[in-house]
Amino acid sequence: MTKVVLVTGGNAGIGFELSKSIAQKGHKVWLAARNPVSGEEAVAKLKQEGLNVKSVRLDVTDLASIIAAKEVIEKEDGKVDVLVNNAGVGLIDQDQNALTVDLKIIRECFEANFYGLIQTTQTFAPLIEAAASATGYAVILNVSSDMASNTYQARPGSQLHVVAYNTSKAAANSYTIALAHELKKQNIKVNAVTPGYTSTKLNSFGQGAKDVTSSARILLPWALLDKDGPTGLFIQEDGKEMPW
Ligand SMILES: NC(=O)c1ccc[n+]([C@@H]2O[C@H](COP(=O)([O-])OP(=O)(O)OC[C@H]3O[C@@H](n4cnc5c(N)ncnc54)[C@H](OP(=O)(O)O)[C@@H]3O)[C@@H](O)[C@H]2O)c1
Repeated sequence: MTKVVLVTGGNAGIGFELSKSIAQKGHKVWLAARNPVSGEEAVAKLKQEGLNVKSVRLDVTDLASIIAAKEVIEKEDGKVDVLVNNAGVGLIDQDQNALTVDLKIIRECFEANFYGLIQTTQTFAPLIEAAASATGYAVILNVSSDMASNTYQARPGSQLHVVAYNTSKAAANSYTIALAHELKKQNIKVNAVTPGYTSTKLNSFGQGAKDVTSSARILLPWALLDKDGPTGLFIQEDGKEMPW
């Protein structure tokens, strides 16, 4: 079955590579970008490979843009089989120490990584439910982070206490848990998956990080889960469960 897939933040980094991998499997991808020029450029690259990809403007911090994107997709496809909540910011060039972080930075991370994820999910819920009614299931994949794991961060000797980013991603994980429970009866699978440390602009193309192709490979099976696939899990890069 050809699925209709929406990837937020699809114009760059992991989202772009994941969009490509999903389209290469024969699915239709709505590549969402906050900057329409960047979205069109990304789609043009994928179209050169003959992939079924369309660009749509969607800024996860701007509800009007999310509603407009939903209307475009509803008109053309009437459903979304898979929503990948990938868009995110790190702001790691800013002070993110617990005592000195500026609340502005915390709010900025929460706007994209938490509120943005929620309002995108809520707005697209009718189209995701339409897919579940039509095919028996649908999927929401929330792209999480190792740094969202409170268990991991609480270990003695743990590092990378990047407060604004970590708290916003941990909050998104908590939302993932609630959403998975709530959507279970409709067989809508909701999981959080961390691709692990990846070289992207989010971390200023950090040294020693894996490439986006490897990260897309980790996320791909969780976007394209089958009808009997799991829900309510937090998955780490080796495919095993990560402690929340
Ligand atoms: N890189 C890592 O090591 C790593 C590890 C674990 C998890 N992750 C997660 O992976 C996801 C993708 O990040 P990435 O590493 O690929 O970084 P990236 O290359 O910076 O990509 C982030 C994407 O999100 C988009 N975005 C940011 N704010 C947005 C907004 N308000 N509305 C819509 N789109 C927005 C960006 O758009 P613009 O191009 O316009 O900025 C870009 O397309 C994030 O959720 C991140 O937390 C990354």
